[in-house]
Amino acid sequence: MPLNIVRNDITNMKVDAIVNAANPSLLGGGGVDGAIHRAAGAELLAECKTLGGCETGHAKITGAYHLPCRYVIHTVGPRWLGGKSNEKALLASCYLQSLALAKEHNCETVAFPLISSGVYGYPKDQALKVAVDAISGFLLENEMTVYLVIFDRASHTISEKLFSDIAEYIDDRYADEHADRRREPIRMNALSLMAPRIKSKKADEDFLDACGAAAMPAEDDLKAKLKLLDESFSQMLLRKIDEKGMTDAACYKKANIDRKLFSKIRSDVHYKPSKPTALAFAIALELSLEETEDLLRKAGFALSHSSKFDIIIEYFIEKGNYNIFEINEALFAFDQSLLGA
Ligand code: AR6
Repeated sequence: MPLNIVRNDITNMKVDAIVNAANPSLLGGGGVDGAIHRAAGAELLAECKTLGGCETGHAKITGAYHLPCRYVIHTVGPRWLGGKSNEKALLASCYLQSLALAKEHNCETVAFPLISSGVYGYPKDQALKVAVDAISGFLLENEMTVYLVIFDRASHTISEKLFSDIAEYIDDRYADEHADRRREPIRMNALSLMAPRIKSKKADEDFLDACGAAAMPAEDDLKAKLKLLDESFSQMLLRKIDEKGMTDAACYKKANIDRKLFSKIRSDVHYKPSKPTALAFAIALELSLEETEDLLRKAGFALSHSSKFDIIIEYFIEKGNYNIFEINEALFAFDQSLLGA
């Protein structure tokens, strides 16, 4: 998945480059900087001494020595001074300059810590937002897999207001599996294959009309209906992309899905995606809850009120917020898997 939020120690990340939240001297310090220098060994400090420091918002690259990556990109985040001292632009610049350096060095995978959000005091929820906005903007134009590595408690990464709103939404809807049969996870069964779109008595009658000999509709109409029933996940996805007037690239990028996976889905009519992948496309296509369920059903899934993950997705769809990165921030804050590949 192009942008992934993970909980880890960044020194363990097996990627092409990790980014260090350094200070202008580039000669080491506490926090993630200290951890990276300890894990890389004294050779890293020796190379850093040759660089002549680094200005706030800029980035420089070195080797990684004993770390399990190829490069360390050192960037200097702004100190938080209340938010009116150009902190946001400087922080965004740290991400963009680091990504530009990574690209120059042909890196395909890069891991960032949440720059400035420790010793430099940038509020974590705002630091995460700047990071996600800058990285996702870059990924619209570039192919790369980027990890945001979060070290602390996940619940601190979104605003308290959003966290408590979602928590309340979950509390209101969280039900044990048997209390809510409509949204119970389903596997494809004969009935759902036959009548996947039945939602109301009227639709039910329409469908039965379509199948019944007595009220046989025009042959073309019946053929069209049967064709929709036979449609696979991949076919429905491609049809919806066309109907929305989107390009394939706009859709998979908005879904936080990488190009290779999208090509696989495109070329394999019977491709069965995972639930997070199917949902990522529903979000990219800005489908309603009902349309989302239709698409999910094609992959053999359904939304369930016995799953926090599903309720969080439902929260965002109901609010009309289809920003996959914001949804992923919230999923991360609730310790759920993320949308995308
Ligand atoms: N892996 C991933 N994230 C980490 C790790 C780790 N091993 N250790 C800490 N973090 P900070 P800053 C998180 O203070 O705010 C240094 O002394 C941490 O929880 O490392 O940019 C430099 O030399 C926080 O969310 O960097 C500078 O003087 C994030 O990394 C100054 O600190 C950044 O925290 C830079 O301050």
